[in-house]
Amino acid sequence: AQIERGGYPHFMLKEIFEQPTTVENTMRGRLILEEGFSKLGGLNIPKEELLAVDNIIITACGTSWHSALIGEMMIEELCRIPVEVEYASEFRYRNPIVTPRTLCIVISQSGETADTLAAMREAKRRGARTLGLVNVVGSTIAREDDGGIYLHAGPEIGVASTKAFTSQVVALALFTLKLARLRDMSVERGRELAQALAKLPEQIQSILDRAGEIEEVAEEFKRASNFLYLGRGYNFPAALEGALKLKEISYIHAEGYPAAEMKHGPIALIDEMMPVVCIAPHDSVFDKITSNIQEVKARKGKIIAITTRDEPSLAGKLDYEFRVPETVDLLTPILASIPLQLLAYYIAVKRGCNVDQPRNLAKSVTVE
Ligand code: G6P
Repeated sequence: AQIERGGYPHFMLKEIFEQPTTVENTMRGRLILEEGFSKLGGLNIPKEELLAVDNIIITACGTSWHSALIGEMMIEELCRIPVEVEYASEFRYRNPIVTPRTLCIVISQSGETADTLAAMREAKRRGARTLGLVNVVGSTIAREDDGGIYLHAGPEIGVASTKAFTSQVVALALFTLKLARLRDMSVERGRELAQALAKLPEQIQSILDRAGEIEEVAEEFKRASNFLYLGRGYNFPAALEGALKLKEISYIHAEGYPAAEMKHGPIALIDEMMPVVCIAPHDSVFDKITSNIQEVKARKGKIIAITTRDEPSLAGKLDYEFRVPETVDLLTPILASIPLQLLAYYIAVKRGCNVDQPRNLAKSVTVE
């Protein structure tokens, strides 16, 4: 087993450390840097039809639902098409609005999740065109969708999804790039996004090289019984995903929240016992999140911040700070999620949990 794990103590850690390569593999042969464009051979949708799409529904479960939320923001921002994200298990039962001009994007690592598969079939039955973002080649969703983008992240064994998540976000960015460029994105902006994507593998590596810093933070907080994760914009879903990772493998109660919404509830829980993970890259909502950080600090919460720059307004406010490299706003959740995966992993290991096979969870949920 040690050999299968490539010398790592757990599959999850191996999969976290594989991400420079898996993200690269998701982009391989698909990114055209000079033209600021992406080539997605499996989409199987003629250009005219893609341009005629007037709404997009993204459906998924679990971690894949979190990447869907990031995809929604990317597509709406850059393609200006309305997008809705639905839990697959809800979508099926609520008479959703689907027309022949609806594109239904289905995200699933395994390609076998029962609710996601049923949601895709339902969308199809109502006339939507379906596009699968799937990791497992030849899985049921991959066989039944109209077109797809394989993640090419390789087998994911750890029950808690890590490398599939980052590859899903990359695949969504490739799709957004393509659609936006077919619509009205300039070649310059296309190139900027393509170049930012191309830089991700080395940026992820530079974070992994400092995993030891996160292990120290984990040592400090391993006994906490609650955690709050805050983010805004593209990093609100990253906050949800960070909290989910911690819950899944360490059994610590954790909640992800849009940072400002904290005022409407979770702020009541903050005291000196509450670690608050704040995802605060220097993006378009940075100023807003710094004020949320001050609100947490004023209530003596312990702040673990993921930042990208030195920020005078935060001096003395952060109990722990982990710097990630800068990138374009829509890719920041990819870099922010790496330290959060590591944090969940090290805390779970230090608590003696079965990281690769947490209690009550399954890698692929094939019951409805
Ligand atoms: C289970 C797994 C999660 C996964 C979710 C959706 O809950 O434990 O890690 O995110 O299913 O799985 P899928 O294969 O459809 O992405």
